Amino acid sequence: MSSKLNRPLTEDERDRRVLALYDQLVEVEQRLIQTGLHVFGQPSEISERADVLRTIASFDRPEAGVRALPDLVCERLGLGSYETVINKAATDSRRLSDREQIESVVSGAINEFLESGSEEAASWLDDAVGINRRDSLPVFAMLEKISKQLETNSEGEALLRALRGEFIEPGPGADLVQNPSVLPTGRNTHAINPYSIPSAHAFARAHAVAESLLQRYQTENGRFPKAIALVLWGLDNIKTQGEGVAQAFWLLGVRPVRDSLNRVTEVEAIPLAELNRPRIDVVMTISGIFRDLFSPTVLLLDKAVRLVAQLDEPAEMNYLRRHVMEQVNSGICSFDESVARVFSNAPGNYGTNVNFMVMDSQWDREERLGDLFVTRKCFAYGRDSQGRAVEGREARVEMERALERVDATYQNIDTFEIGITDVDHYFEYLGGISKAVEISAQTRPSIYLSDSLSRNTKIRSLEETVRLESRAKTLNPKWYEGMLKHGFRGVAEIENHVSNTFGWSATADAVDGWIYTEVARTFVLDDAMLDRLRTLNPHSAHSLVGRLLEAHGRGYWDADADLLDKLREISGSLEDQLEGVA
Ligand code: BEZ
Ligand code: MG
Repeated sequence: MSSKLNRPLTEDERDRRVLALYDQLVEVEQRLIQTGLHVFGQPSEISERADVLRTIASFDRPEAGVRALPDLVCERLGLGSYETVINKAATDSRRLSDREQIESVVSGAINEFLESGSEEAASWLDDAVGINRRDSLPVFAMLEKISKQLETNSEGEALLRALRGEFIEPGPGADLVQNPSVLPTGRNTHAINPYSIPSAHAFARAHAVAESLLQRYQTENGRFPKAIALVLWGLDNIKTQGEGVAQAFWLLGVRPVRDSLNRVTEVEAIPLAELNRPRIDVVMTISGIFRDLFSPTVLLLDKAVRLVAQLDEPAEMNYLRRHVMEQVNSGICSFDESVARVFSNAPGNYGTNVNFMVMDSQWDREERLGDLFVTRKCFAYGRDSQGRAVEGREARVEMERALERVDATYQNIDTFEIGITDVDHYFEYLGGISKAVEISAQTRPSIYLSDSLSRNTKIRSLEETVRLESRAKTLNPKWYEGMLKHGFRGVAEIENHVSNTFGWSATADAVDGWIYTEVARTFVLDDAMLDRLRTLNPHSAHSLVGRLLEAHGRGYWDADADLLDKLREISGSLEDQLEGVA
């Protein structure tokens, strides 16, 4: 093996590479994925339940008086803090074997729980590592309740009751791992009080994420980003009690302030001495759903921006103020125009339509996608200097000026149930804003995502996330076989994943060629697989092949000529089949 330096690797370098590779494999392996679609009225499958319960048990639940299982095991084995073990496992082989040991004990305990119940699992843990039953029984009591709720499903019954106009019990809207009290399903999902966000927990979690995001950019670029464009969604901020909002606050360097009724109605600046870094300029694109559900929060975000822009601080420590003052001082616009940072659709409108343009192949140049994004999302919200409400004022020029300064774009993923290739909304938003920045700033921004799915905060580049999603889902037999069990709809899901992956090429050029090659090999060039797809759903099979050809045609995939010939031939035969079907 040789390095890029054209010299053999030292033993140490080789070991580090192997360790990093191993860490990546574990990341793919441990990624919680859906292994099939939810069927209305049906409980989840047992194989999925073990993974879900293991993940649920890996978080502290102070509200239920329950400690995270890995932490209990780690402490009992005398390995120190579990947080340190997982954060160091990618670079320290001793920590890696500690992590493996902890994981194997945790998995053993969950399996014992599923086979024999709480008492047996607690005894098993006591025998295996000497964890006192007093500490472990509360964990298993919680898992027992969740497991029972996963086994039951009264969605059908609830639907009938709703149709009869009867009362449906309310239930919180959240991610199962983050908040297991979403169970049982079949209830009337409610949102949250907008004045309650960000919660103290969300604000604390967001701190680590915001700092990791800045650190990652700094490591790659040698400086802080001057401005970051964020995407904020409504459902995500319901699920996380406002983690996305809290991340925006941290980047700006402000904290929420609660009034005497415990409502978040104000923000205050975190002193620079405490923040210990510059305040970042933040350009927020909020979804129509966020705008509608969180109107007090929209005002608060705008208030935070205005507060930071008016702080009397050195320009090199307050990038937002610097950018605003540059514009005001050059006389090109007023303070109100230069400080617009909270953008959404026009009132009553939703979405960017970038996804529709990509899915229907209705675009010639990539710039069109960024342009459409701005056209749909350039409506400013907040209050002006006189305190008058600004409720969707068209502000295209202001938005483009704000985007000119942006170095990085970012979105938080908050659930294992929906990732960046599962739906077209991630690329329409994060991809759309990234393309818009590329046009305004005339350089492609660094694009990042983080997820609130695991214990260790991890910022990934878009390219890394596309690779991870492709390996853990689209190209993973466990995932696609799970989908294929659903027949027609399952093939449509596979095709959707390929098209959503393509969306990341169109908006951000973030897909490695090997991903398309592997998609072609797995789903089209394998005769037996192609037969299954075309029997179950020839329409989606045809679209999938068409998307691969489009990826090549638009320059995102450098496929070899034989492969392309084969794809064209198969596409033709699928067309014949469809004509026969029609
Ligand atoms: C939202 O919750 O804001 C959202 C949901 C789906 C697509 C886009 C945004
Ligand atoms: Mg390109």
